[in-house]
Amino acid sequence: MATPSLSWFCFVILLCSAAAEALEGGFSVELIHRDSPKSPFYDPSETPFQRAEKAVRRSIARVRGLRSNDEGDPSADITRVDTDYLINITIGTPPMSIVAIADTGSDLIWTQCPPCKNCFPQVAPWFNPRASSTYAQVDCKSDKCKVFDQSNCSSQGSTCQYSVTYGDKSYSVGNISTDTVGLTTLTGSAVTFPGMVFGCGFDNDGLFSIHTSGIVGLSPGDASLVSQIGGDEGTLFSYCLVPFFSTSKSTSKLTFGSDAALTGDVVTTPLILNSPGPYYYLTLEGISINGKKFEVSGSSGLGAVPGNMVIDSGTTLTWLPSNLYGQIVQAVSEAISLPIVTDPIAGNSLCYRSSGVLKGAPSITVHFTDADVVLNWYNAFFQFKEDITCFSFLPTDDQPIYGNLAQMDFRISYDLTLNNLNFEPFDCAA
Ligand SMILES: *[C@@H]1O[C@H](CO)[C@@H](O)[C@H](O)[C@H]1NC(C)=O
Ligand SMILES: *[C@@H]1O[C@H](CO)[C@@H](O)[C@H](O)[C@H]1NC(C)=O
Ligand SMILES: *[C@@H]1O[C@H](CO)[C@@H](O)[C@H](O)[C@H]1NC(C)=O
Repeated sequence: MATPSLSWFCFVILLCSAAAEALEGGFSVELIHRDSPKSPFYDPSETPFQRAEKAVRRSIARVRGLRSNDEGDPSADITRVDTDYLINITIGTPPMSIVAIADTGSDLIWTQCPPCKNCFPQVAPWFNPRASSTYAQVDCKSDKCKVFDQSNCSSQGSTCQYSVTYGDKSYSVGNISTDTVGLTTLTGSAVTFPGMVFGCGFDNDGLFSIHTSGIVGLSPGDASLVSQIGGDEGTLFSYCLVPFFSTSKSTSKLTFGSDAALTGDVVTTPLILNSPGPYYYLTLEGISINGKKFEVSGSSGLGAVPGNMVIDSGTTLTWLPSNLYGQIVQAVSEAISLPIVTDPIAGNSLCYRSSGVLKGAPSITVHFTDADVVLNWYNAFFQFKEDITCFSFLPTDDQPIYGNLAQMDFRISYDLTLNNLNFEPFDCAA
């Protein structure tokens, strides 16, 4: 596989269009699950069920945090910085490795940079802009400064500065900059993109851990990794998430370029991108349980309106509008005849004494506009504890979210030219 070379010119245009299409077919990189053996957060002394419990707790803390933070705006920032997936990138020449939080709910790519005003401790060496021969600052009057919409002239002069705050109040402030960004493909080759816009953060604080040194935004915004790689050719990417309890050595992948187009048994739904927030919105119309359809009701707010649900890779559980949830949880409990036990974590979800395949799990179809997504049982039920399996959809009165357990074993392709999202059932661990 070839590397888009430095001879790719990028003067007039906003962003270096070192398009993935330059690589025949595109390329794939690894998405590292926070709890998987390849993650710096991996603790070999934990059982898979302890990791599952942590994932559920993260997902619940996110929604509770939201409730105490937001001012009644259901589309307030949903993103916590402890998302479930990480991605490795390199920045600069020579390349510095960055283990970053992968976030489909934010756009900027940033890493901590000295000289720091306030940086959190990190295990990896800092990216030092002075040590990179390809690093450049961005003038605040240039178009590159406007690629990220929360950037502006710094008070000291013409440097383009940014400031970004996430849903849990974690934040980063720094200089908008450009440098070569590199990715290592699953086949081991390096792919580099010169002149990528990213943030050199000198004031970063919040719920960051020592194991990661920044965020890679994957949202529809112009500054995100996916939009910058897509460039003028248009953004097309897909991912395939390996089931949580898979024992396969295969890893989840993120694919760019024409390889990201799906060819199998595909269903397609419109992506709604002009709603508030840097999120990917879908329109949930209803859910069927064993063939009986329950529809989203209400014509305002989070009811049956276009873009009523965010699809997010960083959230474990799926959060449904409470009125719909009430109906389907009833239908699910009628379908399963196992003994019900108390939810050991969330307190309010439907749980059964069961491990492994859930006996009698109903067939569940999620109806997005024009796309009926038929789930595997493990897309909707999750082992919260060793012997307790719970329905992994929960109710919310805030922003409904289609979480990552529901997305596992599907190739999910985002086409930001046609503004649609495609689902194809797939064995992601194969
Ligand atoms: C990610 O990068 C870190 C730091 O360079 C490295 O230790 C780790 O092996 C990489 N992980 C993967 C999955 O490539
Ligand atoms: C940010 O830009 C200012 C002004 O050019 C510079 O003094 C400072 O060192 C830069 N900080 C980082 C972390 O690059
Ligand atoms: C940028 O600065 C100008 C002048 O101070 C201000 O009016 C504008 O709102 C700022 N924009 C952003 C995105 O912060």
